[in-house]
Amino acid sequence: MDRESYQLVKEEIKRSADIVDLVGNFVQLRKAGRNYVGLCPFHSEKEPSFTVNRERQMFHCFGCKKGGDIFAFWMAYHHCSFPEAVKDLAERYHVPLPEKPLSAEEKRKRALREAILAVNEKAARYFHGNLMDSPGAEGARNYLHNRGIPVEVIRQFKLGYAFDQWEGLVGYLERGKVDRKIAESAGLIILGKKGRYYDRFRGRVIFPIFDLSGRVVGFGGRVLDEGHPKYLNTPETQVFQKGSVLYGLNASYPEIRKTRKALIVEGYMDFLALWIAGIRNIGATLGTALTPSHVRRLKGYASEIVLVFDSDEAGREAALRGLPVFLNEGVQGKAVLLPPGHDPDTFVKAEGPERFLELVEGAPSLLDFYMNQRLSDNRATVEEKVSVLKELLPCLYEVKDPTLRAGYVRRVSEAVGIKESVVWEELDRFRKKDGGQIQGRLRNKASEESAAKRYNRDLHILNLLIHHPETRAQLAECEWQPLLTDATIGTVIEAFLDKYKREGQFEPQDLVEELEDERARNEYREALLLPSFYSASSARVAVEEIKNKIREIKITSSIRDARRRGDMEELNALLKLRAKLHQGLMQ
Ligand code: CTP
Ligand code: MN
Repeated sequence: MDRESYQLVKEEIKRSADIVDLVGNFVQLRKAGRNYVGLCPFHSEKEPSFTVNRERQMFHCFGCKKGGDIFAFWMAYHHCSFPEAVKDLAERYHVPLPEKPLSAEEKRKRALREAILAVNEKAARYFHGNLMDSPGAEGARNYLHNRGIPVEVIRQFKLGYAFDQWEGLVGYLERGKVDRKIAESAGLIILGKKGRYYDRFRGRVIFPIFDLSGRVVGFGGRVLDEGHPKYLNTPETQVFQKGSVLYGLNASYPEIRKTRKALIVEGYMDFLALWIAGIRNIGATLGTALTPSHVRRLKGYASEIVLVFDSDEAGREAALRGLPVFLNEGVQGKAVLLPPGHDPDTFVKAEGPERFLELVEGAPSLLDFYMNQRLSDNRATVEEKVSVLKELLPCLYEVKDPTLRAGYVRRVSEAVGIKESVVWEELDRFRKKDGGQIQGRLRNKASEESAAKRYNRDLHILNLLIHHPETRAQLAECEWQPLLTDATIGTVIEAFLDKYKREGQFEPQDLVEELEDERARNEYREALLLPSFYSASSARVAVEEIKNKIREIKITSSIRDARRRGDMEELNALLKLRAKLHQGLMQ
């Protein structure tokens, strides 16, 4: 696809899509004045600085500075390239897409991912077909039946069965003329020592793992007996990263979004058992701990995440590791521990969904959970208490909000029975050890402050240009450069006026993509989100003030020159001129 048709497709998508609706599918947004705000999916935060603006059809995060149009959002959110974003969005909004040559590298990567997804899809159909129809899958059907999985659920989650054969899938793919290299990259088949491919999944019930668009990114397979390993998963591939996928989320996210709460379990079977019991705001981590990547994905839908642990050992571990993530993501993290010997699957079957939900309702915060766990036998020695405190220091230190931090310090102090002042001292000592990072943070703070000052006039000029088209002609005539203190904003203003001189009046957001410097784009996006500082009449006055300021700067520099040359006559004239200017007598 050449540049031009690309442009056409982009324009067409922009006409059909609305950024607030699109982003709203992934991030919980609320209206705040002219904008919509939510928690940024791209960095840790507790207060929403992620802003979406309908009028300009753009988003911007005031925290991490990520921003742009729908395409930029799609690329960042789905970690994909621009051409892929265009393709995905074209599909979503039913915009026909002409063929387009990608860069060789993009082409290769994209083709591989598409090919892997296609093979996965085929394999999923094969496994599912086996389970549904094949006489050889009787055992698997019985197994699932005995574990309480009804056939509708097998259909909905496309569960399958891999025969206990070395070349079941290999043969199937061969008959379908599938490239074996691709199937190997998909992790479905493995090249043996003798140069023959064999199936990775053999004699296992298969759980396809879907992404949010319902594409099969990987598989898990469970043995029907006590064999080892109990579960086998797709290895890391171009389309599968275990640490960021949640099993079942494609089916459960509407419910999570509705309830603003997500329950996280560990296993496929736990997920399905809860689902069948009617508890549907859930996701499963496939046996790993919840990662920051999971939390960031979820926090768009959920303000509370409850981790359901089935063993105290692993639960403690996971709770401690999860703590800093939650403390800083603005998501309430809670934890429940099921009674010994139970996991969510067995518990909900034995005790029923109401009992399960009661436990979830009463779940303590992760911090309390962790401390209860570590100090449960209330015969903890002083040494043990101190060691719990030491474990928690890095987490407390990570809490950026001072009020929150004070709250946590008090709770920790109560729980471990160590005076609050001592906890603060320990925290202080920890801070000193971590001095390098602190320095960095202080430096950032200082530059934030000077930034606030330097912006002033630069931003005002930009604000006039954006909101008051009638001022553009006059400002284009001004020599405004000496007024500016920020080089980046200077380049933005310059680019703005260049475009104006070339094309006449234009929509301000059309300039964003023409700015080459990333910092310039960020600054400009922020400027676009600010409301007008001026009414129509005060804008006129502002332009006059700017012109006067420029004259004043010029006169001041001439004064300096005259003084240096000793030209008293000139100096006197200039000083008078400047005085007049100050009195506002000069136009
Ligand atoms: N898991 C895995 N590989 C293993 C064991 C476990 O990937 N060898 C993952 C699976 O996603 C599994 C989850 O960890 O669903 C939880 O494991 P576990 O608690 O051992 O199994 P259950 O889910 O209880 O499995 P089941 O009820 O089928 O026995
Ligand atoms: Mn289980």
